[in-house]
Amino acid sequence: MSTSTALWTLFSTILIGLAYFAALAFAGGLAWRLTGYLRTPMPWPITQTPAPTSDAGAAVRVAGDVLIFPALFKADKALWAGAWIFHAALFTILTRHLRYFTYPVPGISLALSPVALWAGYIFGLACLYLFWRRLALPRTLYLSGLPDYFALVLLGLIAGTGILMKYWAHVYLVDVKAFTLGLLTLRPIAPPEHPLFLVHFLLVLALMLYFPFSKLLHAGGIFFSPTRNQPYEVQKRGKRYVGIRY
Ligand code: HEM
Repeated sequence: MSTSTALWTLFSTILIGLAYFAALAFAGGLAWRLTGYLRTPMPWPITQTPAPTSDAGAAVRVAGDVLIFPALFKADKALWAGAWIFHAALFTILTRHLRYFTYPVPGISLALSPVALWAGYIFGLACLYLFWRRLALPRTLYLSGLPDYFALVLLGLIAGTGILMKYWAHVYLVDVKAFTLGLLTLRPIAPPEHPLFLVHFLLVLALMLYFPFSKLLHAGGIFFSPTRNQPYEVQKRGKRYVGIRY
């Protein structure tokens, strides 16, 4: 075996190990953090009024928060537009990415293909806007810390390498799919020998390791916010509200 083949085999093995480690850390970290939210006692009803009076109404309110960010809309229209476009583009990209992980490919992934052409660019631009905003406005500059910049840079680099792969240095998608399906079916094979794909993939693994332990977890935490997910009835009953117990 030549030195380059041996080094490639070593690299592939480490990458595959890292992929499984990142997947376990992501799933375990999410379960640990979200269970922590569930187990946190909420001794007093603290729903934000005006509030819906039923559980179904509270669920609709949370769904509204997730889909249209109404509080942000009231507070800052420019930030709302940037944040909403950022999340919508990310959703489009990730839904389209299902084609690399699933067989057969779900219809929604195929249906989004025409708009996904633009979603990558829009997402990259939204990352740049949100990054610029943190630096350009005195108040956000003062409030921003390293984690805020880190998350945007990481996502921006993932988008950048993805766009380069799609429009400039094409990767053979059949090899990509064989690699991801190999990982998912626990029969891993070597990744495509394509530097940009390897960087894109390594950055995604870094994101998976970082996600559950960072402020990006707002994506899950939003469902556990007691001021938003409690119906007004809880307040009226004046009962001690202890959340779910295990
Ligand atoms: C947070 C996770 C991810 C983000 C934000 C992301 C972002 C992007 C973007 C913006 C593009 C260019 C536009 C597009 O094709 O949609 C892209 C392309 C690509 N991504 Fe990702 N990606 C992610 C995860 C992954 C993962 C886990 C894989 C592993 C298979 C992957 C493989 C690819 C490939 C192969 C392309 C090129 C597509 C083509 O040539 O048509 N991405 N990615």
